[in-house]
Amino acid sequence: MSKMYCFFRPILFLFSPERVHRFAMLMLSVLRFAPGGRAAVKKCCAYEHELLRVNVFGIDFPNPVGLAAGLDKNAEHVNELACFGFGHIEIGSVTPLAQPGNPKPRCFRLPKDRAIINRMGFNNKGVEAAVRNLRKRNPTLVVGGNIGKNTLTPNDKAPNDYEKCFAALYPCVDYFVVNVSCPNVSCLRELQDGERLTEIVRRLTAHRARQPQRKPILLKLSPDLTPAQLDEALEVVAAEGLDGVVAANTTTRRDGLQSPKSKIEGIGAGGLSGAPLTQQALEAVRYISRKTQGKLPIIGVGGIMTPQDAVNMLRAGASLVQVYTGFIYRGPGFAGEICREVAKQKAAKL
Ligand SMILES: Cc1cc2nc3c(=O)[nH]c(=O)nc-3n(C[C@H](O)[C@H](O)[C@H](O)COP(=O)(O)O)c2cc1C
Repeated sequence: MSKMYCFFRPILFLFSPERVHRFAMLMLSVLRFAPGGRAAVKKCCAYEHELLRVNVFGIDFPNPVGLAAGLDKNAEHVNELACFGFGHIEIGSVTPLAQPGNPKPRCFRLPKDRAIINRMGFNNKGVEAAVRNLRKRNPTLVVGGNIGKNTLTPNDKAPNDYEKCFAALYPCVDYFVVNVSCPNVSCLRELQDGERLTEIVRRLTAHRARQPQRKPILLKLSPDLTPAQLDEALEVVAAEGLDGVVAANTTTRRDGLQSPKSKIEGIGAGGLSGAPLTQQALEAVRYISRKTQGKLPIIGVGGIMTPQDAVNMLRAGASLVQVYTGFIYRGPGFAGEICREVAKQKAAKL
């Protein structure tokens, strides 16, 4: 599968990332209706093994490899994406109201760096559209709901937006991720500050306390936080009884890139993902794991571009991993490749 993708990738990369994304979404719609299509994709891409099963924050995952937020923002293709071997799919970020996101172009590949810079700005069709789509989800899959606020909502009203998304998605997803770390929505990352974060999180935990079933709530962090800021966020997680963290979102850093400076400057603002983030995200996971004595569940995401990167993330203390940019560069078989390697290394340890 990866050899075939190596052949197609240069052709796909001739087109803009958003065009290819639309094309891929169209192909997933075709897959939905093609008889036997999903089973065929699963056979080619997925890898199943008993050793891969994990229970994290009370949920059984068939394997530890998930699809990160941002690829299926509106939960349109959860069932089809799972056939590529993902043990969970994170939808979103969704906001209460539909919004177009930032002006285009807003997503750029850096092939020399195996990276992407994006400033999508929470483009999505609104939480109600996601809820409608999730009615068609296969109930045996694990689906996370990543929630955000509308760009026009000022930060002091942000708790209302998070609560609206949380309440609407509550019956349709298995766990939640509070996204306060996207660098592409003006001032959003200020919500990682202790007091503001506490206000948002308390609304959600109070809402959860009134529900018949308790669903895990995780916090998605920026890789650019200083240790002091990270400690403050972790204090909120502990004090408010959150169930884990997702580390990390994209970075605003640009150091060490191989792509020409003129290209990077021409692209402008945005979050960087992919290979340049590998070490930074790994260190964030290691730091959080050490700080919490390995007791806090961590989803490790950022720069997982090879199966070994995923193994390193798990060794650093992550219970689960997620990929986005690696899936774009390595292709449809990537989740299966990671699963095969994780199972191999687990078996060797037995
Ligand atoms: C085009 C694009 C859109 C993204 N959109 C979101 C989003 O809506 N919400 C979110 O929490 N993360 C979003 N992310 C961040 C990813 O979920 C992930 O945290 C980040 O890309 C690092 O992982 P990677 O190096 O495997 O891509 C987006 C990433 C990309 C590349």
